[in-house]
Amino acid sequence: MADLTNEIKKRRTFAIISHPDAGKTTLTEKFLLYGGAINTAGSVKGKATSKHAVSDWMEIEKQRGISVTSSVLQFNYDGFCINILDTPGHQDFSEDTYRTLMAADSAVMVIDASKGVEKQTIKLFKVCVMRHIPIFTFINKLDREANDPFELLDEIENVLGIRTCPINWPIGCGKQFKGVYDRNTKNITTFKAVSSGGQKVAETQEIPVDSEETRAEIGYALHDQLLDDIELLDGASDEFDQERVSAGELTPVFFGSALNNFGVENFLQHFLAMTSSPLPRTSNIGEISPFSDNFSAFVFKIQANMNKAHRDRIAFMRICSGKFTAGMEVFHIQGGKKIKLSQPQQMMAEERHIVEEAYAGDIIGVFDPGIFSIGDTICTGSEKFEYEGIPTFAPEHFARIRQVDTMKRKQFIKGINQIAQEGAIQIFQEYNTGMEEIIVGVVGVLQFDVLKFRLENEYNCEIRMETLPYTDIRWIKDREMDMNQLKGVSDVKKVKDLKGNPLLLFSNQWTIRMVLERNEGLELLEFSK
Ligand code: G4P
Repeated sequence: MADLTNEIKKRRTFAIISHPDAGKTTLTEKFLLYGGAINTAGSVKGKATSKHAVSDWMEIEKQRGISVTSSVLQFNYDGFCINILDTPGHQDFSEDTYRTLMAADSAVMVIDASKGVEKQTIKLFKVCVMRHIPIFTFINKLDREANDPFELLDEIENVLGIRTCPINWPIGCGKQFKGVYDRNTKNITTFKAVSSGGQKVAETQEIPVDSEETRAEIGYALHDQLLDDIELLDGASDEFDQERVSAGELTPVFFGSALNNFGVENFLQHFLAMTSSPLPRTSNIGEISPFSDNFSAFVFKIQANMNKAHRDRIAFMRICSGKFTAGMEVFHIQGGKKIKLSQPQQMMAEERHIVEEAYAGDIIGVFDPGIFSIGDTICTGSEKFEYEGIPTFAPEHFARIRQVDTMKRKQFIKGINQIAQEGAIQIFQEYNTGMEEIIVGVVGVLQFDVLKFRLENEYNCEIRMETLPYTDIRWIKDREMDMNQLKGVSDVKKVKDLKGNPLLLFSNQWTIRMVLERNEGLELLEFSK
């Protein structure tokens, strides 16, 4: 068993979250560079035509010819086995992005130093906070004009509601960027811009903060400023506290420039030391240790037809305990039966690779003949249990849909139900009416096109879609509430989800506040368990 323990202890499974263009792809690629998974990193981004068409990582893979899976990327660095989970951005943004965070043990938040905290970061961040997972902040693009670092920290604290602890500190920015000061070693790592996007591992120079040479090297004005900043930081910022970091209450903050490989390796080393290997996960029979001899996993994502050559579904599972070996028999809790996980694989953009073995912390994709739903548990051993469910996240775009040919009602209902089961869309019915009118909710608008395309191609069913002006949805905490009794809801749409939960659709935040004011005791939720 020593082998099992060692394998699991060296695993680190995390997601990188950022607003599009903050530098997530660049940072990921630089991690690979330091991990030796690639020898030279190129400018990742394709030119305008292909830019946002597919998930960023598939784009890396296509351009660089490296083995990046479309869902998870695994590489080794310094004795660690690292799994980075892709959180699709841009138009690919969907509920899957949120669900992926359920499979991660920690998160890296990339922030553009000139933009600060942006909209998409906030949404993803809230999910991390809800899960109390450790969050590490990389403030990127210091080689460009940047906001004041103290203001950036304030913004993270105020907007995201987490305390910050800078591990290093930038000296100047843009053309004046001189490097970062390490608050622990009290040394300065000097910055050198690298040519062609930092294809090679960067060489760095470390100098002590308090020498005359250093003053000369970085300039008197910036050196004075740095000394003032250090004094302020030492007096006012939170001290590093591993326990608070592990509880997701304090985020260690690093400054750098991913494009120039600057601060990337230092960040990776600190990050690996400050995060833990997979931790126990909660189930209905208590906590399950990752080191258990019994294999267990849960499904966090289901993807259909990723590749036209394989018209099937892939269920992505996060292994939570034990070891997986190809061909093993497992128990599918929700299905209530023993199954073999067939064709376990890691997905590559064009190819699939069979996985022979995998450990707690790893992600595998298995062929799904239509039996899995999001949140399902798979386990071995005599004791059967279920992992905590995955919440349903609030969609932000809504449309009313119906089939063009009324004779095809059956296919239509079957299609949307199956697609909803995969978690690509959510479906709602009008409160108090039958199935006649169906409202679809999605997190990213691209999902509407996907739905239309799939209903036509897979279910041979053409649909009409009318987008609705709602932007916010809330679950009503009291499931038994009679929604007809609610006051001030003339602009609000009352619906039910597939499980019969009552919900309200709002067209702005203002109406939410008004409805809450007018209905004393009403509790509205942004996630549904
Ligand atoms: P994303 O995955 O978060 O969407 O961001 P991505 O890494 O694709 O980076 C977005 C843009 O920011 C890219 O430029 C990338 O080269 C640039 N970038 C990333 N890190 C840094 C950095 O540390 N400094 C600077 N100056 N730029 C950085 P692009 O506009 O998409 O392409 P390009 O034409 O500039 O290469």
